[in-house]
Parts: sequence; C-alpha cells; structure tokens
Amino acid sequence: MPADKQTRLDPWGATLIKDYERVIQKFGIEAFDKKILARFPDPNMLMRRGVVFGHRDLQLIADAYKAKKPFACLTGIMPSAEQLHLGNLTVIRMVKYFQDIGAETYLLAADLEALATRGISLEEARRRVVEFYLPAYIALGINPDKLHFYFQSQNQSVKNLAYEFSPRVTANEFRAIYGEVAAPKIMSSLLQSADILYPQLPENGGPKPTVIPVGADQDPHIRLARDIVHRVKTHIFVPPTSVYTKFTPSLDGSLKMSKSKPGSYIAIPEDPDVAAKKIFSALTAGKKTAAAQRKYGADPNKSVVFELLKQHLMEDDKKLERLMQDYRNGKLLDGESKQIAAELMRKFMIDFTKKFEAAKSKVNHLIS
Ligand code: TRP
Repeated sequence: MPADKQTRLDPWGATLIKDYERVIQKFGIEAFDKKILARFPDPNMLMRRGVVFGHRDLQLIADAYKAKKPFACLTGIMPSAEQLHLGNLTVIRMVKYFQDIGAETYLLAADLEALATRGISLEEARRRVVEFYLPAYIALGINPDKLHFYFQSQNQSVKNLAYEFSPRVTANEFRAIYGEVAAPKIMSSLLQSADILYPQLPENGGPKPTVIPVGADQDPHIRLARDIVHRVKTHIFVPPTSVYTKFTPSLDGSLKMSKSKPGSYIAIPEDPDVAAKKIFSALTAGKKTAAAQRKYGADPNKSVVFELLKQHLMEDDKKLERLMQDYRNGKLLDGESKQIAAELMRKFMIDFTKKFEAAKSKVNHLIS
C-alpha cells in the first residue's frame, strides 16, 4: 500500500490531520523542510518530527544565529482560561528552544485582548497570570532570568504603537484577513501587531529578526503584522518570522484539543491519575479484536495515543520509532500503547507540579 510505504520512509511525516499541506499552499507558508531544519542546532523533538510544519522567513533567524547577531522570540499568554492544556505546550516548547539558542525572549500577558474579546477584567487576568501562568511557563522550561515580561495594559510603548498602526489598515483588509470587522477584534489585532514588533523598537535595541511561534490559527495576526511593517513610515522593522506547530488533537480524535470539550482534553495541571486515566479513553486505530490486530497491525498515525507520544510524551526518537513499528506490524496492541503513554502522562504531571511549586518564588522580579 502506498500510504504505508510513505509512512515507512518518513516516520514523522504523517499525522491525524491531512490538511497542513493545503494550509501551506493556501496561505503561502513555507514548509519546514530538512534544509531549514539543518540550520538549527540541537533541534527539539517537535522540529525533528514535523510537529513544526511551516514557517515564514525562518532563514532570518538562522542567519542571525549563525552570524551571532541579535534576534528575538516573542509569545503571548491569553489568560482566558484558569489553566493550560496539553495543546498549549508546543508553542511554549518552541519559545524555550529559541530562548535556549540565544534569542532575546519576550513574554506578554494579553490582558487587554482578554478584556476586549472575553470580558475578563484586568484584575482577574493579572491574578491568573501571576498565580498560574508565569510559574507554569517557568515550570515548562522558560528561563525567568532571561525574560522580558509585560502586561499589555501596562506597556505604554505597545499601546502607542497600536495607535500608530491604526491608520495603516483598512476595514476591507480586516475583513479579508479575519472574515469580519468588529471593534474588539480590530483593537486586539492592532495590539497584537504591536506586541509582535515591540522587540524591534529603539528602546529594545532596534530592528532585529523576531520569531513568533504559533499555532496555524494565529497566522492572520502574523500576516497583518508583516503587512504593516511595509507601511509604517516612522519605524524600520524587519518583517516578523513565524513558525507554525500542528494542533494537538483532542482525545476523541477531532482536530484541536480545546477547553470546550471537558472529557476530551488534558489540562495542565491535572491530577496525575486522572490524566493517566484519560489516555485510556483516547481514540486509537486498533482493530476490533486483539487477534485481528496481531494479524494485521494498525496505523500509528491514526492513533491519538501515538500523536501524544510524538508531540509531548516520548523524547527518545528511536524508542518511539520502534513502538510505531511494533504497532504497525501487530506486536503492540492498543492497551499496551495506552499503558506506556498513561505512565508518561502521570510522570509529566507529577514533574510539572513539583516544578510549578518551585517556580512560584521566581516570578516576583518579572511583575514589578
Ligand atoms: N492572541 C493570542 C492568543 O489568543 C495572544 C497574543 C497576544 C499573542 N499578543 C501576542 C500571541 C503576540 C503571539 C504574539 O493566544
């Protein structure tokens, strides 16, 4: 079978979602291919396994890294929920990666966006960010000692920049990019463009390549910021770089893990036993009976359990490849793959909670 062959040639290539190729073509995103991968030191497992699937202008970051010139990385925390979930990890891991290879790293709390689009008060947003998100990001590997952090509501330069951008965008353009023109969205997207370009202001050392790791759903913001760069007359900006990570599927196999389906997502933090148990409810590709699966094998790329191993749980490429192979040829059954993933999930939660507690004492210098 050709599909099988393909899978064997490229163990990381296939995913539950077939449409990333189309996303790439439709929006002019560049594929994250071996050539660009080879330009980065110690790629993390998301990069090695094609969970990072696309980019815009990532060569600018590779060039800066090679020339030992400054470059930045930025991401935003949307405090619309009380917790993170597994799907949020990919972006955080990419920010950690760029921070580790020397990016000036910026993290912001999108409290104004949460206010405008979700009706969350600034006080509530602040509480969530200080008590939960900041320690959580640190627990997940972000180094607080090499981090610029701000709240949108407190960053005068970012707000001014958003106002400066406003005459450079038309209603038609908003409609084309976002599908509708609504005041909260307009304000939030101008502000997000300002966030994205903030590391390049003179007060932050001037123009420099800046990478924004995002899920594909944030691409409209990237496109807007890239358009604005060419229109502002008062500043010089390098067009922002983006890298795109695939979604983590929800446990029932649908495209994207989300809070709106309580049984189908894994929160961070979650009780280790509950998280482990949830793994057993995940969609797999196994045959109806153990005997049939032993005989015919099953496709790991259609199993949410394997997708979780690949995206989040199993660091060791060789080990994962072996498990996939065993699943394909019927040596490894669903129950066994779930057992392995559940155990790793349990360990992840225990480890996270420990690091989270330790990180609480490290946020003070960030929030002034
Ligand atoms: N809109 C983003 C979200 O919903 C949050 C955000 C605000 C952001 N400013 C940003 C993300 C700048 C990346 C870069 O999650």
